[in-house]
Amino acid sequence: ISLKPYNTFGIAAKARYFLEVNTVEELRQALRLGEYPEKFILSGGSNMLITDDLDALVLHINIKGIEIVDEVDGHVTIRAMAGENWHDLVLWTLEKGYGGLENMSLIPGNTGTAPIQNIGAYGVELQDTFVSCEAMNIADQSTRTFTKEDCQFGYRDSYFKREGKGMYIITSIRLQLTKHDHRRNTSYGAIEEELKKKGISDPNIKDISNAVIAIRQSKLPDPKVLGNSGSFFKNPVISAREFHTFTKDYPEAPFYKITENAYKIPAGWLIEQAGFKGKRFGDAGVHKNQALVLVNHGQATGDDILNLAFKIMDKVEKHFGIRIEPEVNIIRPSLLKGRKKITP
Ligand code: EPU
Repeated sequence: ISLKPYNTFGIAAKARYFLEVNTVEELRQALRLGEYPEKFILSGGSNMLITDDLDALVLHINIKGIEIVDEVDGHVTIRAMAGENWHDLVLWTLEKGYGGLENMSLIPGNTGTAPIQNIGAYGVELQDTFVSCEAMNIADQSTRTFTKEDCQFGYRDSYFKREGKGMYIITSIRLQLTKHDHRRNTSYGAIEEELKKKGISDPNIKDISNAVIAIRQSKLPDPKVLGNSGSFFKNPVISAREFHTFTKDYPEAPFYKITENAYKIPAGWLIEQAGFKGKRFGDAGVHKNQALVLVNHGQATGDDILNLAFKIMDKVEKHFGIRIEPEVNIIRPSLLKGRKKITP
């Protein structure tokens, strides 16, 4: 079957077999189907670039459900199953008046994959509300709870991208949210501007969510209209020494100081300066409003997108001496076992 509807890049790769998994028990049974065919776990398909057909059994994680599991003074703990769409979960929390996820409105993808890269936007990351997750070991189908500490979260990073890569399927997550609307983060400049534009000085969580939605819609392409995977690259982090040299040459460059010896440079700025913003090479392109986003204008293959990515990485490195790296998972069928990411 064609995987085109199952990956937000809209790449028309095929899977030999495809199975939708609706419960944790179904997932266990599916994993027990033996060594062959190779299993490939597919969730929201929003953070992957498939470069070829998959000679595999694709397990599409569609396990649904959201429930309140605990309530204590002003806080509530919810449990959401892996197959819940992330933005639907955010909307559910806003309807209930629970605070904490509003800055992460409209992030594509599903709940179960959110911990893998510690999704984040507009000053808030998943780890800020994360309590724990349940995951199934692919090898023996046992289940295990990972605490926040076990997950070793970092910027777009976690245990599941490193030592635990390809070993587990997250089946549900637990988040602790505020009940009385008091966790608000408007420190991100773009949110402040958007609220000001609307004349809102004391925003509630819905106002913040609406501001984030407006900003995202103005900058980021809707995957239903134009295939993409959000930020294709991570923002590079450089040392104070590298930063010193860099900022002498490019005093106008934006940056975020993370620690005394770590500075994050927006890759979108580097890519724009390297001349790629809005450019198109066949059907593979760079988005016109946000250079960090690569787009599929229709018929691009995974390799078309990957070749463009290499071209950008090389030119940025030549220009600025900074190597940027993909954030999305690049799926090479030859490396299916362990779902290794290609680091070009
Ligand atoms: N910039 C440019 N040109 C561009 C794009 C950005 O000069 O084409 C500059 C902007 O002017 C701004 C800076 O880069 O000064 C930062 O841009 P922006 O606020 O759009 O954020 P970002 O660093 O490019 C990150 C996340 C996004 C997230 C936003 C907001 C990563 C890899 N990306 O982008 O996440 O929505 O911050 O928090 O960290 C995603 O992961 O898919 C994603 C969209």
